[in-house]
Amino acid sequence: MPTITFVLKDGTRQDVQAAIGTSIMKAALDHGVTGIEAECGGCLTCATCHSYIDSEWIDRLPARRPEEDVMVECAMDVRPTSRLTCQIPFTEDLDGIVVHIPQSQI
Ligand code: FES
Repeated sequence: MPTITFVLKDGTRQDVQAAIGTSIMKAALDHGVTGIEAECGGCLTCATCHSYIDSEWIDRLPARRPEEDVMVECAMDVRPTSRLTCQIPFTEDLDGIVVHIPQSQI
């Protein structure tokens, strides 16, 4: 099954097997990845699914929609690679993607 690698705040890597079509946020929740709270359940109203997409992968993602742009600015320590993981559908092309959890995430 395709894999997402989450790099946790302490540097630990957590490989998660995820179904194609789910969101990266949902895959994190399903596997108890620390630092992805997703309080709004993916409704784009909380920014608690904020993560940094690894620089090797960021250009393979579709661009942020304006609605995501607005909400990501509500997150702390925003970087050019910041994304709200609830807005990223996991596709076959993203098998192996690396996602870093920000230090600011609970
Ligand atoms: Fe709330 Fe992503 S889960 S914005």
